[in-house]
Amino acid sequence: MRLDEASLARWGERIGETVETPVVLGLQGELGAGKSVLARAIGKGAGVSAAMPSPSFNLVFRYPAGLGREVVHLDLYRVAAPDELWELGWQSLGAEHEIVIVEWPERADSLMPPDHWLIELSNTPGKSELRDVAVRRVGAPPDLAAFPMSVSVP
Ligand SMILES: Nc1ncnc2c1ncn2[C@@H]1O[C@H](COP(=O)(O)OP(=O)(O)OP(=O)(O)O)[C@@H](O)[C@H]1O
Ligand SMILES: [Mg+2]
Repeated sequence: MRLDEASLARWGERIGETVETPVVLGLQGELGAGKSVLARAIGKGAGVSAAMPSPSFNLVFRYPAGLGREVVHLDLYRVAAPDELWELGWQSLGAEHEIVIVEWPERADSLMPPDHWLIELSNTPGKSELRDVAVRRVGAPPDLAAFPMSVSVP
């Protein structure tokens, strides 16, 4: 699937509005791929009213969301070894009411919870405004909203 930024944001908002909790979403892609754009859209859809700055330095931010839910946004780019995750409260992630969004899930390696989604964003060659989006289900996470209409590229 190939999406422009507005379509990606629309999909993220639908995910945030509709997904059942607990759910864990790993967002993959190079620097600037759009992981934080998608994370903010999911948060917005879930009812987060805060700005959701990038957790690049703090590694984890929590936000109250609608319907008693909570959005937990992590950016593991600076995690050098998976055992650094314990300091972030990793073992208690994925509680009943949580939407957990993990940028750079590769850094957590085998410590990712058994049930999660991996959403990979990559640049579309020659089209700086588009991203190819690949979605993989690992284990049995709750369903995600369907993609919005694809952007067609001539
Ligand atoms: N189709 C698109 N989807 C998402 N972002 C896009 C798209 N086209 C252009 N962009 C731009 O790409 C940038 C994505 O930045 P973002 O911070 O979301 O990346 P990131 O993957 O979180 O990077 P980092 O690893 O540095 O945290 C934004 O400036 C956004 O405006
Ligand atoms: Mg980011």
